[in-house]
Amino acid sequence: MTPTDQAYSEFYAIGKEILTHPVYQRLKSYIHHGETSVFAHSVIVAYLAHRLSERLNLDTNSVVRGALLHDFFLYDWHEEGKRVRKPLLKKHGFKHASYALENAAFYFSLNPIEKDIISKHMFPLNMKPPVHLESWVVNLVDDYVTFFETFKNMKDDFHSLLQYVNERIADDLSLL
Ligand SMILES: [Fe+2]
Ligand SMILES: [Fe+2]
Repeated sequence: MTPTDQAYSEFYAIGKEILTHPVYQRLKSYIHHGETSVFAHSVIVAYLAHRLSERLNLDTNSVVRGALLHDFFLYDWHEEGKRVRKPLLKKHGFKHASYALENAAFYFSLNPIEKDIISKHMFPLNMKPPVHLESWVVNLVDDYVTFFETFKNMKDDFHSLLQYVNERIADDLSLL
């Protein structure tokens, strides 16, 4: 997928309220997969999910907002278990969707589709399946992005897309 200024501008206009929020910006300081921060990961998931949902004629506003907030858990999950061992079902993989929803609902006003996207993005690890097609799109894009971030053999075009979107975001945020 080639990045374009128009696609980026549409994406940024929808995501601006979240992207510029000071608490959301804290996601830049947490590493997620490989060398990618939770911020950069969420941005690229939301950007790709936006493009896909546009083609499918879905609710692009909810897709971008839900995707930006799907991993809004505000801690370093790599530190988990270093001090206290947790039972499997209490570990990050199982719990972070509900933490993200709690934080997202505290800082932003969410519609039912956005709540579904955030709370169901770890299906089938979390057993309740998504209700909305918008949530399926984010679920699939999240898995796709995570795969490339975790296994460093990213395709060149994916890597340059990630760089493009994150550099544009950095430029826009520096203008504030
Ligand atoms: Fe997640
Ligand atoms: Fe994710």
